[in-house]
Amino acid sequence: MKNQHRTSIIVFACLLLVLGFLSYSVIDRLLNTKTFESVDRETEVFQIPQHPYSEKEAETAGNAFPLEYPEDGKFTILWGTDFHLRRGPFANRDKIYSLLEKAFAETDPDLTVITGDLLFSFNGKAMLSEFAAFMEKNKQYWAYCLGNHDGEYTYTRKQLASQLAEYPHALFSSGEDWVLGESNYVITLTEQGKPVQALVFLDSHDARAYAKRIGPDYIYPSQVAWYRWVSEGLGKVPLYTFFHIPLPEYKELWESGKAEGLQHDSKINAPLENSGFFEAMVEDGDTVATFCGHDHLNDFSGNLEGIELVTGRSASYGSYGASDFPKGVKTLTLYRNKTPFAMHTYTIDDWQL
Ligand SMILES: [Fe+2]
Repeated sequence: MKNQHRTSIIVFACLLLVLGFLSYSVIDRLLNTKTFESVDRETEVFQIPQHPYSEKEAETAGNAFPLEYPEDGKFTILWGTDFHLRRGPFANRDKIYSLLEKAFAETDPDLTVITGDLLFSFNGKAMLSEFAAFMEKNKQYWAYCLGNHDGEYTYTRKQLASQLAEYPHALFSSGEDWVLGESNYVITLTEQGKPVQALVFLDSHDARAYAKRIGPDYIYPSQVAWYRWVSEGLGKVPLYTFFHIPLPEYKELWESGKAEGLQHDSKINAPLENSGFFEAMVEDGDTVATFCGHDHLNDFSGNLEGIELVTGRSASYGSYGASDFPKGVKTLTLYRNKTPFAMHTYTIDDWQL
C-alpha cells in the first residue's frame, strides 16, 4: 500500500513536470515568435534604385566586402549553422568553441559562414559579443545571416545587427534600407580587385501567419529584387547564396528522391507559400548553389534546375539534436577557375571531440 502511494506520487510529479514543460513551450512560442503580419509578398512596397548596382558604391556604403582570392585559386569556407548560443543548463558553449578551434586548425578557412540561429538566448547581445570576440581572438573573418531564433527574445534583429560594426573580422551588414531584413549583403571574391565570384547573404526572417497557421517566413519581393539587381550589376559572376530557412524547393528536391544525404527531422520546415526566390535565381542564371540551416537533423544536397541546394550539418549544442546525428561543420572549397565546388563534412566523431 505504501509502495503504491509512493508510485502514485512519482507518477503525479512526472506528469506535472511534463505538463509544465509543455505549457512553457507553448507560451514561449506564442510570446516570442515574431511574425510579419503587416506586410506580405503581395503587399510589400519598395523602390528599386534607378541606377545599376555598383560594387564600389556597395563597398563604400558597407553593404559589400571584397576578399581577394588566394593565389592557389582555392577559397575555403568553413560553414557552420544553428549553434544556438545561450546560457543555462546544457548550453555547451565551450563545446562549440572547441569544435571551431579544431576546425580552424584543420581546415584553415579563408572565411567562416554561419547560416543563422547562432543565438538562442534571453541575452542575445552578450552571446553575440562573446562569439564576435572569439572570432577576433582567432583572427577569423566571418559572415552571418540571421535565423529565426537570433532575434527571438530581449533584443530585436535590428539591435543585434548594429552590434557587429565594432568587430573588424565580422563581415556583416544589415543591407540596403529598401530591402526587408537585417542581413542582406554581399562578399565579393576578387582577383586583382575585380569581382570573379560572390557570396550573397539573405535574411530569411522568423515566422509568419499564413491563412491556417503560423509557419516559417519567406524571402520577400524586395529581397528578390535586390538579388536580381546585385546579380545584374556584377555581370556574369557565379553566385553562392546563404540563408537560414530552406526554400520550398528543398522539399521538392528531397521528395523527388534526387537528393543525397539525410532527412532525420520529421519534415523540411520550409515556408508554406512560395515567394518565387528560387524561380528568380533559375531565371537569372548566375547562382551555382544555395546553402541553408534551420532543420538540425537534415543534411542533404542535390541539384534542382541547375542549382545545387544544400542543407548544413548543424552543431546545435544549445538546442535539439539526436544521438545518431553527430554535430559538425562543413567546408566548401570554391575554385577560381571552375564551378561548382567541393564540399566536405566534419563531425565531432571524426575529430573525437
Ligand atoms: Fe531555425
